[in-house]
Amino acid sequence: MKNLELNIENVFPFIPKETLDGYEELTNYHIRHLHQRTGKGANFLGWLDLPSTITEESLKGLEDLAAAMNEKIDVMVVVGIGGSYLGAKAVIDALTHSFGMCINRSRKYPRIIFAGQNISEDYLGELVDFLDGISYAITVIYKSGTTTEPAIAFRILRSHLEKKYGQEEAGKRIIAITSANRGALRKLADQREYRSFVIPDDVGGRYSLLTPVGMLPIVQAGFDIRQLVAGARKMEEITGPGTPFWDNPSAVYAAARNALYRQSPKTEILASYHPKLLYMAEWWKQLYGESEGKEKKGIFPASVNFTADLHSMGQYIQEGQRNLFETVISIEKPVRHVEIPEEEDDGDGLNFLAGKRIDYVNKMAELGTMLAHVDGGVPNILIKLPELNEYYLGQLMYFFEKACAISGYLMNVNPFDQPGVEAYKNNMFALLRKPGFEEETELIYKRLDS
Ligand code: PA5
Repeated sequence: MKNLELNIENVFPFIPKETLDGYEELTNYHIRHLHQRTGKGANFLGWLDLPSTITEESLKGLEDLAAAMNEKIDVMVVVGIGGSYLGAKAVIDALTHSFGMCINRSRKYPRIIFAGQNISEDYLGELVDFLDGISYAITVIYKSGTTTEPAIAFRILRSHLEKKYGQEEAGKRIIAITSANRGALRKLADQREYRSFVIPDDVGGRYSLLTPVGMLPIVQAGFDIRQLVAGARKMEEITGPGTPFWDNPSAVYAAARNALYRQSPKTEILASYHPKLLYMAEWWKQLYGESEGKEKKGIFPASVNFTADLHSMGQYIQEGQRNLFETVISIEKPVRHVEIPEEEDDGDGLNFLAGKRIDYVNKMAELGTMLAHVDGGVPNILIKLPELNEYYLGQLMYFFEKACAISGYLMNVNPFDQPGVEAYKNNMFALLRKPGFEEETELIYKRLDS
């Protein structure tokens, strides 16, 4: 079986190979510290060996619950924000038919809809309208149990669900995923006897794909979480402390981006040529942005979806300010087979492509763009996935997580905290006059008045 491949040939015109050889000792040192749990943020390393330690019992528990619930619903609303929704959304979008039907599935699974990732009145109002005539259930996910966005969405939807089905049946249609013993959601789940799962205290949100946070919505959508775990397990094995530097894709990716960052580029653009990977980029942006962007350091994670964005962002990437590098996720084999038909009169001049697969044209766009960007001064890292399926998504996401931890250590920051996120919350709570924020409220209104 093939594995994810990393190709950094298009970094060498900008960074000599010897510079990257120089990272061998350093990345080995950081990988050792990660695995010995002696580096920064060591109490948040529960994700590191999740793939190899996940139990049959926990997988079966998720599958059974999803199967039982799926029998009576058409829609599952997953309520969560940041790491409490992006991993599941990335996988579900990558595997779901672009037009809403399920690929290769013999039976129907509920449509998964996300809420609690914004505070838009229109979004919630329209969601409630939509749910009026639909049989649905709620999976509510927040580790802290106090995050405002999901808390508001859950209150609105819970009340709708209770009105629709009565309190008892509504309670059977709610699944809570939260901390074992702290926060408002844990209290509510215990009081109202919701079915609940625990997010381990030593796993941060953005690293929680292989906990119930990511896996329950994925299995609810009808996808194979065992294959997801198997792929991640393979990557756990490949990226472990015993692997030589050049055979460890996470170490090489972390080293290449760190070397580029030190030379000059401060923005990394994640590019893919598949619209199904739009949310993979959103997940990746949170992972790297929250893990590295602190202490005035960090590579700014941006993303583009080609070829659509070649007609919007392409100009800047080709000729704008030279502070970028690009990481491309390339999928070797598409699921479908669609050829361009021949036409007798060749009115649109496309007969030179007749009989060619659409994916062949996409691959030529990918290759041509990469070469053009390198010519334009944009270093390029290529990540090749054999196929878009659960197994390779498991590989890809664990690869990124491991590389992110190593990258954070290379920058000498703690990749597992996010202290900066509190700043907006404190101001918002002060402005909303939340009890306990009286002093901040007074200060902020004085500031606004002056
Ligand atoms: O990575 C993290 O831990 C955070 O980004 C969280 O995922 C995000 O803030 C949501 O937290 P919670 O699950 O407590 O609502």
